[in-house]
Amino acid sequence: MLRRALLAASASNRLRQLITTAPQARAIVEDYVAGETADDAVRVTRTLRADGLRVTLDYLGEDTTDPAQAAAVTDEYIQLLGKLGADGLTEDGAAEVSVKPTAAGLFLGARTASQNIRRICAAAREAGTSVTLDAEEFAAVEPTLQMAARLRAEYHDLGCVIQACLRRSEADCRALAAYGVRVRLCKGAYREPASVAFTARRDVDLSYARCLRILMNGPGYPMLATHDPRLIEIAGSLALLTGRAPDSFEYQMLYGIRPAEQRRLADTGARVRVYLPYGGDWYAYLVRRLAERPRNLGFFLRSLGSKS
Ligand code: FDA
Repeated sequence: MLRRALLAASASNRLRQLITTAPQARAIVEDYVAGETADDAVRVTRTLRADGLRVTLDYLGEDTTDPAQAAAVTDEYIQLLGKLGADGLTEDGAAEVSVKPTAAGLFLGARTASQNIRRICAAAREAGTSVTLDAEEFAAVEPTLQMAARLRAEYHDLGCVIQACLRRSEADCRALAAYGVRVRLCKGAYREPASVAFTARRDVDLSYARCLRILMNGPGYPMLATHDPRLIEIAGSLALLTGRAPDSFEYQMLYGIRPAEQRRLADTGARVRVYLPYGGDWYAYLVRRLAERPRNLGFFLRSLGSKS
């Protein structure tokens, strides 16, 4: 119930206004977001790299309805990739970028988004790294996967995300299990109806485990995005069973969530990548994180209340 209410809140303009203008919110946001600028993002990336972690950077923002805004998002990624490359952080794909197709203009038309994402892919290639397309609300899933398939002809390393909560995802995993294809598997952070998604946590977890098995048995490059200890353990067992080399798959977690576990996994020799968001448009991202762990909501509200 609370999770649903919070996810609905992520779209509320009044709540957005209230929270984003509260000065105390900034200190809390810093736990989950690198900062507002590309320089902040590069600085935090450097720290994570020094800890042996890989990084994928997300310039916050989604659902762009203005072509100029979509172009500005594209330019921001290109500038970021230039900075990361100049700093040597993109070597061997150590730092890459994650792009929300709707921020690049998906709902303005697949052509606009394709052109923008192609420009980001070209900049990533020049910097020696790759791009992953995030998965968003259900209406964006099919157009995103179709666009990724088209762009992959030119940029084979373009990754995409599968949300285990969706009923279609097992079939998507099978279709994507091709040589070298980079697929990030997550549970899914959006509120979707039962007609297209599993709504019970247990069913989502079971779907994740099935998708995991398909990807780990396939010839692609699985990117296992979860903080769930049970699923991380299953991934480790599957890696042993399938004889996967440590550099043939990776664990991924969000910046600020289970950092000790991130380092523990990296210390075992596994590849671990941290999803690092930055930018001023952090509201929807933060509310989705609170929805995943309502006990953080209490902490958040108490922090706001105690300082106001
Ligand atoms: P779950 O939420 O069940 O949590 C399992 C355990 O992890 C908890 O019991 C707790 O120990 C810990 N934990 C989880 N969240 C926490 C928090 N906020 N604070 C503290 N501890 C916490 N979604 C999407 O729809 N599209 C996308 O493109 C992406 N991309 C993406 C990339 C990466 C790298 C990650 C890690 C996640 C995403 N997601 C996403 C988000 C994903 O769908 C999901 O909402 C979150 O990862 C939470 O799900 P878990 O798998 O962690 O399990």
